[in-house]
Amino acid sequence: MFEKKCMNPKVISTQNSEKRELEKAFKFNLFDPKFNANPYPTYHRLRSEDPVHRYFVGGDWIVTRYADVKAVLKSGCVRTDDRPKSIQERNKYFQDKGKNLNTLAYTTSRFLFYMNPPDHTRLRALVSKSFSQVVVEGMRYRIREIVDELLDKVRHQGSMDIVADLASPLSVSVISKLLGIPKEAQQQLHQWTNVLSRILDPLVSLEEYTAMNKATEKIQEYLSTLIAEREKDPQEDLISNLIRAKEQNDRLSQKEILAICTLLFGAGEETTGNTIGNGMLALLQYPKQMEKLKREPTLIASAVEEIIRYDSAIQMLTRIATENLEIGNQTIKAGEKIVLCLGAANRDPAQFPEPDELNINREQNQHVAFADSIHYCLGAALARVEAQIAINTLIQQFPDLKLASNKLERKKSIVIRGLKALPINFTC
Ligand code: HEM
Repeated sequence: MFEKKCMNPKVISTQNSEKRELEKAFKFNLFDPKFNANPYPTYHRLRSEDPVHRYFVGGDWIVTRYADVKAVLKSGCVRTDDRPKSIQERNKYFQDKGKNLNTLAYTTSRFLFYMNPPDHTRLRALVSKSFSQVVVEGMRYRIREIVDELLDKVRHQGSMDIVADLASPLSVSVISKLLGIPKEAQQQLHQWTNVLSRILDPLVSLEEYTAMNKATEKIQEYLSTLIAEREKDPQEDLISNLIRAKEQNDRLSQKEILAICTLLFGAGEETTGNTIGNGMLALLQYPKQMEKLKREPTLIASAVEEIIRYDSAIQMLTRIATENLEIGNQTIKAGEKIVLCLGAANRDPAQFPEPDELNINREQNQHVAFADSIHYCLGAALARVEAQIAINTLIQQFPDLKLASNKLERKKSIVIRGLKALPINFTC
């Protein structure tokens, strides 16, 4: 059941049917390392030649135009990806072999971005209180302190890896502070959630499912102990708030609290860390933009918005049609999968003039990097503040930043876009 009335998102009709027949032949491989390194040329070709493309493996639909992506996100005729259901199906196979994926199956079924109303509405309302603008603004001072502490460690080295020395530890510390995770457990939790982040990718092997189930068990074993401590001695943190909600009969179970905390830790650290890395790389590749930002630090809010558009940390989302949909000239049947390319929509020239240019003064930057509608990213305000403080502090305090390597590797994922490392040199 959907809250909103189902509206058919017919947006733009594609003309020239003959040309389209030819273009249907366009084949590309989502898992090609070249696509991983730079998906944007493929996105451009798809968007202009076959904007509602039927992928040759599995037959999922790939949507690349901004207007179409936005319309599907807002449509009442779609539901979220059924990944938790497919884990359940694999679980049956595992159980025959004396193993199971029970923890992973339940936990992901309580990940907000896999849920649908009314369950999604209830759980999101409980969690969103902790991500209000007021709460996020209250974190500014602590975020500045963490950034300064991290930069102090490398200030005299003349070199650093922006991913390992700043972006990743900052995002882990901030989400830990919100949740109330003590320092000594943060690194271990980060490693486990890294394993779990494979859940977003479409092709996952049985070994990876087993590893993800194990990592989820470990995360939850640790969090259960922490929750028991907070029950005895509540603090000003999100875990204690969720326990209060449970006690106030908000129909929140212990297993749901565990799933919510697992989701928030993972969603909060990976995406923001990648955004800071992607953003710093973009600024290094556009030195005039970097200089402009150095001279006018008040441009940081618009610069971060542009960075998030230009190289989005989440490139794709999946939805499933609940009714037949007309998008472009295609009919997508109920039950079929639709892959929404946020990264492609954010480079659509029909929406963003000169989309492949980084322009920190860009006006009208209504990108879809945080999605839209009922699943709009809960941590968007927090991610923005973290990226703004990290990037401005780094470029103001460290003069003459230069890339220390031209051989940069991307993380191996078609959904998550981030760098494995971003080594730089600077003047001490
Ligand atoms: C720049 C960094 C970030 C990006 C690009 C990003 C992107 C997204 C996107 C695209 C979605 C929509 C998923 C869907 O519709 O299927 C989403 C949802 C979500 N994000 Fe983020 N995110 C970021 C940072 C964060 C942070 C810092 C947190 C938490 C602390 C967070 C928590 C969530 C949660 C809980 C959802 C699920 C919301 C729902 O389904 O109702 N995100 N995010």
